Amino acid sequence: MSSSVFRSDLMAGKVAYMAGATSGIGLGIARRFAEHGAKVYVVSRSLDKVEAAVTTLQAAGAEAAGTSVDVRTFPDVERSLADCVQKLGKIDFVLAAAAGNFPAPAMGMSDRAFKAVIDIDLLGTFNVLRASFEHLNTPGASIVTITAPQAEAPYMLQSHACAAKAGVLMLTKTLAMEWGAAGVRVNAVSPGPIADTEGMRRLASTPEMEQKAVQRLPLGRFGTVDEIGDACLFLASDAARYVTGASLSVDGGMGLGDAHVG
Ligand code: COA
Ligand code: NAP
Repeated sequence: MSSSVFRSDLMAGKVAYMAGATSGIGLGIARRFAEHGAKVYVVSRSLDKVEAAVTTLQAAGAEAAGTSVDVRTFPDVERSLADCVQKLGKIDFVLAAAAGNFPAPAMGMSDRAFKAVIDIDLLGTFNVLRASFEHLNTPGASIVTITAPQAEAPYMLQSHACAAKAGVLMLTKTLAMEWGAAGVRVNAVSPGPIADTEGMRRLASTPEMEQKAVQRLPLGRFGTVDEIGDACLFLASDAARYVTGASLSVDGGMGLGDAHVG
């Protein structure tokens, strides 16, 4: 993972609870928040990954903690939020980044395969948001969900992920409406293809597929986890105090269409 040289106190005194933040994009976001002064609490299924992430965040200078949770199980999510408050004092910001994906045609997946992705991405995001609301009573509290280009366009071999991420997008917008009066902002970040992540290892698994994907991008390169972290920092900060229900594409222009000539 690349390491940032830029640090600030933008998030000083803030506590971030981050689901699915023990590898890839989620961990990159967590590290970015740590570099800007936040205390960070991370959860995912694997205790080994949680412990390694906490060590990484402490090395970045943060007070950090975490626990093993499957976001599909609501009471476990609730318990982890209470543990975050007990260990780090409160919650100002929530990230819902846990997801699962694999390329498969609809006829190549069982009902359990389809349900696995819907349950992790959509039910898991609902569980994290639903359980965190009661803790988000600090001024400027906000939530970021992680969607994907699949939320807004169909992709071959991605019926489960398209359905799940479209659901996450509408969940984000609906809860932004419901929770605006309570002062809780809810926004989505939609990453394009991000280098060195499990998602891209699964969806562009050969150098040829990777090269084709890069050629289609208006900015001509994959993004970095830091670039997704910076977008989340913006949405979490006071600079975004009038932004809610937004979906911020951080995708090198991917959503504009295929930029490959010839
Ligand atoms: N093609 C078709 N079906 C697949 C599959 C594939 N490539 N990979 C898994 N499945 C099926 C399994 O066979 C199973 O169905 P079955 O019970 O009918 O056989 C079903 O999906 C659930 O698999 P299981 O391994 O029990 O689920 P899990 O909850 O332990 O894991 C996954 C969820 C499948 C999404 C797993 O890949 C995962 O944990 N992913 C997290 C990491 C990730 O995907 N990162 C990228 C994020 S974009
Ligand atoms: P990743 O490294 O596999 O990250 C997934 C994270 O979610 C891990 O921390 C994983 O840890 C956790 N997780 C998975 N299932 C979980 C569950 N049931 N309960 C709790 N935690 C769970 O993959 P990534 O590629 O960085 O993707 C991160 C996010 O970005 C996802 O939301 C993905 O859809 C989105 N995204 C990625 C790309 C990309 O280019 N990679 C593009 C667009 C959107 P455990 O295994 O320990 O549970």
